[in-house]
Amino acid sequence: MAGKIPSEFIDEVLARVDIVDVIDHRTPLTRAGKEYKARCPFHDERTPSFTVSQSKQFYHCFGCGAHGSAIRFLMDYAHLEFREAVEELAESVGLQLPTDSAPVAHSDTGLTQLYATVAAAEEYYRQQLRSHEGAEAAIAYLKQRGLSGKIAADFGIGYAPDGWSHLLDALGENDTAQRNLHKTGLVVERDKGGYYDRFRHRVMFPIHDHRGRTVGFGGRILGDGEPKYLNSPETPLFHKGNELYGLHRARGAIREAQQSIVVEGYMDVVALAQHDIRNAVATLGTATTRHHLERLFRLAPETIFCFDGDRAGRDAAWRALEIALPILFDGRQIGFLFLPDGEDPDSLVRTEGTELFRERLRGAVPLPDFLFRTLCRRTDLERLDGRARLVELARPFLSKLPQGVLRDLMFERLADLSGTAPGSLSRRIPVEPDRELSAKTRRTIVSSPRGGRPSPVRLAIILLVQNPHLGKLGIDCAQLRGLELPGIDLLIDVALQLELHPDISTAALVERFRDTDHHAHLEKLAVWEHLPEDNADVVYRDTIDSLRRQLEDQEYQHLLIKSESGPLEPEDRKRLLALLEFRQNPMGSGP
Ligand code: UTP
Ligand code: MN
Repeated sequence: MAGKIPSEFIDEVLARVDIVDVIDHRTPLTRAGKEYKARCPFHDERTPSFTVSQSKQFYHCFGCGAHGSAIRFLMDYAHLEFREAVEELAESVGLQLPTDSAPVAHSDTGLTQLYATVAAAEEYYRQQLRSHEGAEAAIAYLKQRGLSGKIAADFGIGYAPDGWSHLLDALGENDTAQRNLHKTGLVVERDKGGYYDRFRHRVMFPIHDHRGRTVGFGGRILGDGEPKYLNSPETPLFHKGNELYGLHRARGAIREAQQSIVVEGYMDVVALAQHDIRNAVATLGTATTRHHLERLFRLAPETIFCFDGDRAGRDAAWRALEIALPILFDGRQIGFLFLPDGEDPDSLVRTEGTELFRERLRGAVPLPDFLFRTLCRRTDLERLDGRARLVELARPFLSKLPQGVLRDLMFERLADLSGTAPGSLSRRIPVEPDRELSAKTRRTIVSSPRGGRPSPVRLAIILLVQNPHLGKLGIDCAQLRGLELPGIDLLIDVALQLELHPDISTAALVERFRDTDHHAHLEKLAVWEHLPEDNADVVYRDTIDSLRRQLEDQEYQHLLIKSESGPLEPEDRKRLLALLEFRQNPMGSGP
């Protein structure tokens, strides 16, 4: 995969695009005073509460709370990944994403040619399924597996004829074409030079990326044999851990059903679709990644994993649970459907039919139940020490959950199961969030009060985010370092960004924090309401002043405590006296 996009580039993109154009293009906006309005594209509503601010380059829906920059809009509206959204915006203003992926940048052929090559191969394989003399066996195989011609066509299923150079002969008309076939993994290089077809006498399942472009194939042997599936290797276009088979096709159905289903095999996805269950996707022979889950949660709040009922299936489910815990924000749900021994969704839906399969989906075990059931099986709840052990077992899992109602409820359940007083456990089990989140961010996020009056630190951040020009006042926030208040480090970071980039917009400022844990938090603060708009600089100055006084107070208290346990170092003494003097005469020049 290509590396991180430089934040200068993101600044540049956000400076060039106008969020009003970006959104208007997709959801027509009407002007309302300083801002623009529309009916919110993210929820159903009669009267427009979706507002776009041109000055802030930010949108906000007062109905459903959706908000963000142009990048965020594209991610949510068009279901793009961050990188893809930036790419699309960049293209729209004639900028090119800086390429750092050497194989692409330095090759004599661009990605466009590689996409075209894979698309041509897909077409070729489909054509062969229709017309090649050897395709009869493939057609018979698909029929025997219960697929209609329509579904096969919908999924672009094709046939790779038996032989070493059918595709090579058809598409490798010159050196460049052959090299492209090789780069996309469709042909394999011979030791002595030259190439041969990778896929021979196999049923071909094209794999599409989220945008619907064909990026690779899975080729199934007809009947028994090894390997059962041959897959495209990792190529500049195809990254297994990123893609989910069938996602592009399933997107609409997932949104409609407000639920996605994750299965293991290509044939499971196709067979479910054949039986009118179209919201299923498959991991490509890899474990579920957080990336997969985030993609799915962006489309619908509920995901059901289908696993074998055997040991391996339970282990895979447990791994999925561990991946999911840190991103189980309130509203998101995960269920596990364990299938009878020896069955997979394909075989089940074919023998039982659509309705029974849907019934099974409804009976999926909710993640919290799966978690507690599994843990309870590992201890003896009849015993006092067994119940204490349950708390120990659950601790590392529950502590991964983000703050929220679900987390609270899970702790209540744990208290219930272990017979401890409600509320006692959550206090004893600290927030040990996701390791990817730093401790300091956690402090910020965790301690932010929901709604209500913002704390001074929060207020200062809000003011800076909403009025980036305040950075030009030259107020030095770095001196607040060490103040033991939640969010202080973030405030300093935000102020520093503004010092370095005095002319950026709210949106660009927030984007600079994209890869940090502060991003979502800042997005919210960017649309915080009820703020003094006109005298933002006065309020900001006052707020920082009051924080400075708090820091002095804190220092004073620390020194006092220190002095109680023994004589102070001369330096500390001097400092304490200065602070003391200042407290008595706060109008002076400061300690
Ligand atoms: P399964 O063996 O469960 O696949 O492997 P399936 O789709 O049910 O296969 P059939 O056609 O019904 O027998 C699950 C997934 O693991 C990967 C494929 O992505 C497959 O869909 N796999 C499996 C391979 O890549 N290679 C293999 O040889 C087997
Ligand atoms: Mn199968």
